[in-house]
Amino acid sequence: MAIQMAPSILSADFANLERDITTVSNADWLHVDVMDAHFVPNLTLGLPVLERLAEVSPLPVDAHLMIEDPDHWAPRYAEAGATSVTFHLEAAADPVAIARDLRALGARSSVALKPGTPVDQVLDILTEFDMVLIMTVEPGFGGQAFMPETMPKVTALREAATASGQALRIEVDGGVARDTVATVVEAGADVLVAGSAVFGAEDPAAEVEALRALAEE
Ligand code: DX5
Ligand code: ZN
Repeated sequence: MAIQMAPSILSADFANLERDITTVSNADWLHVDVMDAHFVPNLTLGLPVLERLAEVSPLPVDAHLMIEDPDHWAPRYAEAGATSVTFHLEAAADPVAIARDLRALGARSSVALKPGTPVDQVLDILTEFDMVLIMTVEPGFGGQAFMPETMPKVTALREAATASGQALRIEVDGGVARDTVATVVEAGADVLVAGSAVFGAEDPAAEVEALRALAEE
């Protein structure tokens, strides 16, 4: 499957989101980080903002929910217009029920694992998901250093999906930049989130293409 690029608006200008989103319309997904100041020690935006972003975005929205009680909230983000909804396994009471709710609403189901969460917990329920997000930093903030020790989890997931013939997307999020793209792709990731690397660049659209080119090398 072709590599997909997902710029994270966490590093965009929050007073000019529509402008910044339009700038990266050459990407594949718009990665929107939802934080509640409980699951992670940071607060970003919620349903009303995501709903408007989905309306004005030229790209489908990849919602990354770093929030408590995804059993209740994840389906609401699908209803608000997110094409893909990722919730954290660590916060979920019934991950399979959430995945089924998301798919029933026509959204793609996706589950995220923090760096310390083992991958075995999702291997048994992999077919419930269209994507797994392996966090390559501790969730909560942009601009952190990439954690290479998370790569064996990506490889284990890719091997499991290949063995069963599942067209699973594997997303990586945190510290993805020119110097780490080859590592994540080699491990088996095929959806690349990049926040500071893209929006910190002078030309964000060109940076998306530069990262994509490096990933496809
Ligand atoms: C962090 C967020 C990321 C963040 C990544 O918890 O989930 O999406 O924007 O930022 P960078 O790419 O700067 O590491
Ligand atoms: Zn994210």
